[in-house]
Amino acid sequence: MSLLDQFSLKGKTAVGNHRPLNRTVLCSQLEDTIPLLTGGARGLGLEMMRAFAEVGASVACIDVLPELGKHSVNDIHRDFGVLATTWECDVTDDEQVRTTFDAIAKKHGSINVLVTAAGVVKNFRAEQYPAADFRRLMDVNVNGTFFCAQAAGNHMIAQATGGSIILIASMSGSIVNRPQPQCAYNASKGAVIMLAKSLATEWAPRGIRVNSLSPGYMETGLTKALFEKEGENGPVLKATWEGHTPIGRIGKPHELKAMAVYLASSASSFVTGELSDSDGRGERVRWGMRRGRGRGAKMEDLMKSGEVVRATTDGCNW
Ligand SMILES: NC(=O)c1ccc[n+]([C@@H]2O[C@H](COP(=O)([O-])OP(=O)(O)OC[C@H]3O[C@@H](n4cnc5c(N)ncnc54)[C@H](O)[C@@H]3O)[C@@H](O)[C@H]2O)c1
Repeated sequence: MSLLDQFSLKGKTAVGNHRPLNRTVLCSQLEDTIPLLTGGARGLGLEMMRAFAEVGASVACIDVLPELGKHSVNDIHRDFGVLATTWECDVTDDEQVRTTFDAIAKKHGSINVLVTAAGVVKNFRAEQYPAADFRRLMDVNVNGTFFCAQAAGNHMIAQATGGSIILIASMSGSIVNRPQPQCAYNASKGAVIMLAKSLATEWAPRGIRVNSLSPGYMETGLTKALFEKEGENGPVLKATWEGHTPIGRIGKPHELKAMAVYLASSASSFVTGELSDSDGRGERVRWGMRRGRGRGAKMEDLMKSGEVVRATTDGCNW
């Protein structure tokens, strides 16, 4: 679905003066921006890159999958006619990140939007988590995110243009999802959320906004691999996740497009250090009960009956 269709209020009743968003309004929000996406070859990064191109921005993709990256940017150029480039780069290699960002700035003229979607997940029970796997996950999700934010921040400071940095975290950075044992992933995403707040505070005087975006379960290669690893229990795991989500389903990558464009554009010029949840859950404690029960139900009764399935770490449940 196109971004314009997503914003359409056709057939809905709006209170007050309503002027529909049109392509000009959306495009002007991202005029002259050069969004750079890590992990842009597929999944959420790709969908966001397509959203930026749709509103007229030229885009750059960084990934460790060069062939897929090439395929993705060729499609973008064909569909939207913008300059779209792809760069092979491992975000865990700080030197490679610096030289790649320099080359992108040279090719595109500047860097003023960064989305860090490169990320991995690998689950083991905590007591058996291999040290090498734990280190690797932290290296990609935390160090890689920092190296890219640092490289982009340095360009934005040198250009004196300011910019917008969007770190893709996860709902797992704030809550513990079950039943999968994912302590490393959860800890890495918690770090990403705090990194966004810290950088936002340091760089606000430079005109650089830094926000984190925390999706819930989304339908991508990353979640597909988790289902496949479960074998015949894959559909059971999927149904469990859906049951824990008040919206009742897993999200589609295109459902994050509008949020990415909003955070990248001047429409969010007073938004920084924010954690935006796009997880189909809403406010956690209130939604901490299975669908079908009224909000008036007492928390302790729901806990006793096992109907409370999740909440934040405020003592309401686990
Ligand atoms: N899919 C979900 O349910 C979900 C939910 C919340 C958060 N997220 C986060 O969103 C981000 C994107 O996830 P996705 O579902 O699109 O995953 P994905 O596996 O489909 O895409 C991730 C991309 O990152 C790239 N990548 C991995 N390691 C890299 C490295 N070292 N250097 C450069 N590129 C690298 C991969 O090649 C891939 O193209 C991740 O950070 C993930 O943790 C995903």
